[in-house]
Amino acid sequence: MSPPSSESFATQPAVVPERRTSDAVVVVHRSGPLRGEVVVPGAKNSVLKLMAATILADGEYRLRNVPDIADVRIMAELLGAIGITTTAAADVHDGELTLVNRGDLVPVAPYELVERIRASINVLGPLLGRVGRVRLSLPGGDDFGSRPIDMHLSGLEAMGAEITLEHGDVVATAERLHGADITFEFPSVGATENILTAAVHAKGTTVIDNAAREPEISDLCRMLISMGADIEGVGTSRLVVHGVEPGSLHATDHVTVPDRIQAATYVAAAAVTGGELFLRGARAEHMEMLLRRFGDMGLQIVPQHDGLTVFAPERLRSIDVATLPYPGIATDYKPLVVTMLAVGDGVGIVTENLYPGRFRYVEELCRLGADIRTDGHHAVVRGRPSLSGAPVRAPDIRAGAALVVAGLVADGTTTISEVHHIDRGYDDLVGRLAAVGAPIERRPPR
Ligand code: EPU
Repeated sequence: MSPPSSESFATQPAVVPERRTSDAVVVVHRSGPLRGEVVVPGAKNSVLKLMAATILADGEYRLRNVPDIADVRIMAELLGAIGITTTAAADVHDGELTLVNRGDLVPVAPYELVERIRASINVLGPLLGRVGRVRLSLPGGDDFGSRPIDMHLSGLEAMGAEITLEHGDVVATAERLHGADITFEFPSVGATENILTAAVHAKGTTVIDNAAREPEISDLCRMLISMGADIEGVGTSRLVVHGVEPGSLHATDHVTVPDRIQAATYVAAAAVTGGELFLRGARAEHMEMLLRRFGDMGLQIVPQHDGLTVFAPERLRSIDVATLPYPGIATDYKPLVVTMLAVGDGVGIVTENLYPGRFRYVEELCRLGADIRTDGHHAVVRGRPSLSGAPVRAPDIRAGAALVVAGLVADGTTTISEVHHIDRGYDDLVGRLAAVGAPIERRPPR
């Protein structure tokens, strides 16, 4: 197939919103034991992919248990530019979001939106499978390092896509993708999702070996199946997708899986304050390895049918932890684990196996008095009985939340700035913590 002409990517009037940042700060004081119940919202890293999957079929979709977070609004803007409308200007009402695909899609993801949200890469597979061509601005790096997409691209090429890089854009075309046997050298979350969503419309069967098996991927598979896709091996590292005829998928209603990272954040908050929390909606089976290691730190965690209860000891014990793809300990939990170790009894070594640059927030924790040394992929954390409040900066979503947790166990006042990072992935972190007794408030921009 010859490269697409620029006319084939003619855009609709660009819907490029103003950049939403926040100069708000979060102010935290040392907290007594947190007690009560926290409702765990839906998972960011699922809902953004579920939203992208609406590209695959016309109709009205209803997503439930949608977290009210900035990234959902940015994804809605990106989908709006592609031609999918969301209700009420992309506001999430009672955790519900309606998206309408009328079939008139513009397969272009512009730089202004792509650079704001990594998950924009997730429109590549569905657009290529549905429309047969895509122009997507190449996503850049992240605060925690380079994040290539070579596995996404080589997987799509194996399925017959022609891919070129032009002026910072990935341009992919395929009249109709065909099935292929794809083995990932690493179980990439994003590449698994892109190949899955491209494969549902491909001619023939696609086998993805060494697929990522995060609960959010199973959630996406379940939504695709409810749209009429034919997928075997859900939840395993071998996904088999039998392509269905283009036009045979339909819109659906779907409930987003609860967010295991937000759940872990509240476990960490209970842990450092010596508290006791019931996390409604949290799924212990999605956090098995982490909860086992939290048990080694002295936390008592009791799974219930509708959530889990956490009882914290007076002081946490230190442990060594290494991040790994699911079902290992997720890299996204790591800033929370480092924060817990910072007030643990003993020394813990934390090894990062996914993103080498993901220790940048350590300097901020050290500003709070933590004793942490990093060397390449490792951090050595010497626990202290408590930390000491100071102004700090949220460097990314997860590290920002970890600094909030650290503030709960720091004497005096901790003021966290660059809160817009936290807003990308946390649905009312401050309100939820305040409701269980944390002395915390969000101060609006002055
Ligand atoms: N990688 C490659 N080539 C590829 C794809 C990935 O080298 O083609 C490398 C990455 O550079 C990285 C590793 O593989 O070193 C993991 O990348 P993966 O593709 O698994 O991650 P992702 O899909 O880009 C998602 C989450 C991240 C989470 C990672 C790992 C979303 C939107 N993001 O990213 O979440 O850390 O999986 O679990 O789902 C966050 O929520 O704050 C966040 C960063």
